[in-house]
Amino acid sequence: MARLIVVSNRVAIPNADGNQAGGLAVAVRSLLKHRGGLWFGWSGTVSPEGDVTTRTIQRGDMSYVVTDLGEADYQEYYNGFANRVLWPILHYRLDLAEFSRRDLSGYRRVNAHFANELNALLRPDDVVWVHDYHLIPLAKMLRDRGHANRIGFFLHVPFPPPEILTALPNHEWLIPQLSAYDLVGFQTENDATNFARYLENECRLQKRGEFAYQTPERVVRIGVFPIGIETSEFSRLARRSVRSPLVQGVLESLAGRAMVIGVDRLDYSKGLAQRMDAFERFLAVYPDWRGQVTYLQITPKSRSEIQEYAEMERTISEAAGRINGAYGEIAWTPIRYVNRAYSRSVLAGLFRSARAGLVTPLRDGMNLVAKEYIAAQDPDDPGLLILSRFAGAAAECAAALLVNPYDPESVATSIAHALSMPLEERRARHQVLYQVISDNDLNSWGEHFLAALSKSGTSPQLHEELEFGPAVTAGLA
Ligand code: G6P
Repeated sequence: MARLIVVSNRVAIPNADGNQAGGLAVAVRSLLKHRGGLWFGWSGTVSPEGDVTTRTIQRGDMSYVVTDLGEADYQEYYNGFANRVLWPILHYRLDLAEFSRRDLSGYRRVNAHFANELNALLRPDDVVWVHDYHLIPLAKMLRDRGHANRIGFFLHVPFPPPEILTALPNHEWLIPQLSAYDLVGFQTENDATNFARYLENECRLQKRGEFAYQTPERVVRIGVFPIGIETSEFSRLARRSVRSPLVQGVLESLAGRAMVIGVDRLDYSKGLAQRMDAFERFLAVYPDWRGQVTYLQITPKSRSEIQEYAEMERTISEAAGRINGAYGEIAWTPIRYVNRAYSRSVLAGLFRSARAGLVTPLRDGMNLVAKEYIAAQDPDDPGLLILSRFAGAAAECAAALLVNPYDPESVATSIAHALSMPLEERRARHQVLYQVISDNDLNSWGEHFLAALSKSGTSPQLHEELEFGPAVTAGLA
C-alpha cells in the first residue's frame, strides 16, 4: 500500500498540549489511527522570525512532521487570509471579509514553505491528501517542484456559489489552483455543484464526464464525501461516560430538569446569538417550561485575536446573562454558558443525558457535533436533534427536526416540540438517523475518498471511463 501523507494546517498529535479540537483534527486523527501514515502541518507554535523549525515526531505507525509559523506568517496567513478572508467568504459572509494584499502574500509564502518542506520528504509513489482552505495552492506548488504524485483535496467547510466567490479579490488566481489536484472532495452535492459551476463559468474548463474537467495537464475530478464519525465507538463512549462522576454530578445538579445542549467553537458561523434569541423566545412563548429545562451551552474560545471573534465573546455572554437575569430564579438558571473545552468522553456522556441537541449554524460544512449527538443517544429513550438546514449534516439527517436558524420563533417551537415528543416517534427518528451515521462513518468516508483518489489520474483508459462512466459520488448516503 502506498504511503499516505496527510497535510493540514491544524495537526493533532496525541498527548501534545496546545492542539485545539475542530472537526478536521478530530476526524483526521481517528482516520490515521487505523491506517498509519505521515501527517504534516503547523506545529501550533508561533516563533520569532528566524527561529522557525520543522521537526519529526514518531508515535507508533504514525509520523508527524510539524513546522512553526513565524509571527508575520501567523498574522497574515492564519489570522489574515485564511480566517479573515477565506473563512467568512466560504461561509457566505461577504460582509465580514477583510481582504489585504499583504495577507494574501503571507498565505502564498506559508503555502510555499509547506511545499518546500514536503518537497524534501515526498517519494514518487506517496499519495498526498491535503485538507481545507488554508492550503488551496499546495498541489500546484508541489507540481511546480516536479511532483507527479496523486494529490487529493478535501474541503471541510462549505463552497459557496460563484456569485459569492467571485467577490473575493484574486479569486482568479486562487480558485483555479484547485485544478492541480487529481480529486477535489466536498461535503455535499451542493458544494460540489458550486465548484463545478465555477470551473465551467469562470475557468471555461471542458467537461470530461459528470464532475470531471479537463485541464491542459490533467483531468480533475470532483466528488461528494460527507464526513462521518466513529459511530459505534462514540456510542460506546457515551454509554460508559454517562456513569462518570462528572456527568453524574451535572445530572444531580439539574434536579430532575430536562437538559438541552449545544457544543460549538465560539464562531459566528455557529449561529450562537440567534440560538440564544430562540431559547429566549422559547421561555417567553412556553411559560410552562420555565423552571423545567436547563440549556447547557459549551463554547470553547476560538481565534480570539480576530476582532469578530473577540466581539462575539462579549455578545454571547451578554445575551446569556440578560436571559438568565430576565427569566432565572434563585433556584434555577435557564442557561449555563461555559467557555471551557471538555474531553470527548465528557461530551459524549452529556449528549446522552440531554433531551435535545441544538445544532443551529448559519452555515456549516458538515457539523460533526450533530452526528455525535445522534451516536450518543440511548436508542430506548433517545433525545432529539434540532438541526439547521444550513449544516451539511442536514442532507443526511432529514429525520432530525430541521430548522431555519434565522427564524427564532420556529427554533423555539422545535425546542418545545422536541421536549414533548412521544417516545415512539423519538425512537423511530433516532433509528433512521443512527442507521445513516453508521452506514457512512468516518472509516467509510476515508476509504471512499482514497479509493476515488487512487482511481483518478490521466491514463487514456480513465479518459474513456470518464466520458461514459458514472460520476464520482462515493459516500453519498
Ligand atoms: C474548522 C476548520 C478546520 C479548523 C477548525 C478549528 O473545523 O474546517 O480547518 O482546524 O475549524 O479552527 P482552528 O482555526 O482552531 O484550526
